[in-house]
Amino acid sequence: MEDRRIRKVVVLGGGTAGWMAASYLGKALGPAVTITVLEAPAIPKIGVGEATVPNLHKTFFDFLGIAEEEWMRECNASFKMGIKFTNWRTPGRGEATARPYGDSVDHYYHLFGLLPNHENQPLSHYWTHKKLSGQTDEPFDYACYREPPIMDQKLSPRFMDGTKWTNYAWHFDANLVADFLRRFATTKQGAVHVEDKMTEAVIDQRGHVSALKTENGRTIEGDLFIDCSGFRGLLINQAMKEPFLDMSDHLLNDSAVATQIPHDDEAEGVEPYTGSIAMSSGWAWKIPMLGRFGTGYVFSSRFQSRDEATLEFCNMWGVDPETQPLNQIKFRVGRNRRAWVKNVVSIGLASCFLEPLESTGIYFVYAALYQLAKHFPDKNFDSILQERFNAEIETMFDDSRDFVQGHFSFAPRNDTAFWQACKELKLADDFQEKVRMYKAGLAVNMPITDESTYYANFDAEFRNFWNNSNYYCIFAGLDYLPDHALPSLAARPEVLDSAEVVFAEIKRKQKELMASLPSTYDYLKQLHGK
Ligand code: FDA
Repeated sequence: MEDRRIRKVVVLGGGTAGWMAASYLGKALGPAVTITVLEAPAIPKIGVGEATVPNLHKTFFDFLGIAEEEWMRECNASFKMGIKFTNWRTPGRGEATARPYGDSVDHYYHLFGLLPNHENQPLSHYWTHKKLSGQTDEPFDYACYREPPIMDQKLSPRFMDGTKWTNYAWHFDANLVADFLRRFATTKQGAVHVEDKMTEAVIDQRGHVSALKTENGRTIEGDLFIDCSGFRGLLINQAMKEPFLDMSDHLLNDSAVATQIPHDDEAEGVEPYTGSIAMSSGWAWKIPMLGRFGTGYVFSSRFQSRDEATLEFCNMWGVDPETQPLNQIKFRVGRNRRAWVKNVVSIGLASCFLEPLESTGIYFVYAALYQLAKHFPDKNFDSILQERFNAEIETMFDDSRDFVQGHFSFAPRNDTAFWQACKELKLADDFQEKVRMYKAGLAVNMPITDESTYYANFDAEFRNFWNNSNYYCIFAGLDYLPDHALPSLAARPEVLDSAEVVFAEIKRKQKELMASLPSTYDYLKQLHGK
């Protein structure tokens, strides 16, 4: 029988996506397949992409057999226990500190992990009952999770002996990650690295790409081509002519200005979370690492010029726009109609992108690689493999787009033309139904597993990526509350009473952890040998 196995995979692009693709597929396909990465050194990678979500280690690095401590050290990585949203409810220009809000200040956390259940209902629903009946004023995040006061104190998600007490993700230096994975793929897995610029894709009579031609006269042949060429989408959009579906009718932001700011960790500690600060026409990320933080203002050019946005951003951090090195970025929002067409699979920015409010970019890369390995073809390119893969990517992306859009739609602030316009955008039908469920007191996308299975089984997580806990953190954080508590709870006063034990246990655990955890700074210093 004829051997129809794919033998040559060519990856176009050496950014984070290109090297993640080379190393992941190198492991998934083994030594019988040659992987070549073609990268134009003169075309810079995007160089941002520093905040992640918790399954990164399990789904990607663990699969490659790389220990967390090793890649953390190589990539100047720090911890992320969630996202702190600042000033999403109060009007004003960019301010890094939280403004006064009622009796408190304007911030809330989006935490990882699943909420505890009590009598088959997530704790969020007991909190809603208490909140709407005037029995509590405590914010949702502080009442239902152990982490918020610990994050306020900048304490670590690990004890000094390495014991991990919560689920967390990471911040890292995007350029170091690409370098680290390049070394791994070329030295440990035999990937071939070609530094040259692609000038032409050769198309055969079936409409497949058969080879890439380069500026220096090379011809690189392949059976399967992975397009990681960034926003240009050189193979998928240009050679295959697959349309990119623009989704700026859901998300208005299309630009960013980014920089790095030195930080005195010794004096101020290291925040174990990503910051997301609402601005006049968008929001700014703050991503702490040892010795510095990365930051960028993601804004809508329809509502603020680049100069005005740069000024608002630089004023917030007290830096001079004339002398501060600034990375000005323009991005496309949306996804390819199909991520995989004929023998070209797009991954990373060449495939899909939405603003990094929930740190989804790198997640989309390894989630797509996981799905590609599962649906990997032979030279027959059975169309059902492509169709199923494309359906997975479509759901993954559209679901995340809707969740991110919800942040802007339900933020109470309405003080600028940008924030007003966000309220006028249409919500997808699926998402409207989720919002109706939430308003009626129902759980949205309730996970069918407990927390340990959820994080241990990528398929379970992928199918249910944004679940009740995520919706609650954002919606309740923005003061967008259900209209009423779940009706069936009112009929069970004994269950409402016994839920108090769960709330009390969270308080007890918060105190115990606060008294015993090291600072994030001390833990990272030890890890990085500083
Ligand atoms: P990238 O553009 O980095 O790489 C493209 C590669 O293609 C380069 O190596 C280039 O040389 C090569 N190339 C192009 N043309 C070529 C040619 N003709 N011949 C040969 N090679 C060619 N994600 C996340 O998870 N967390 C986050 O916090 C953020 N933050 C963030 C902020 C902003 C403003 C943006 C725009 C994006 C993010 N992301 C993110 C997304 C993240 O940056 C992105 O998913 C990864 O860096 C992957 O980028 P790529 O490798 O796809 O493209």
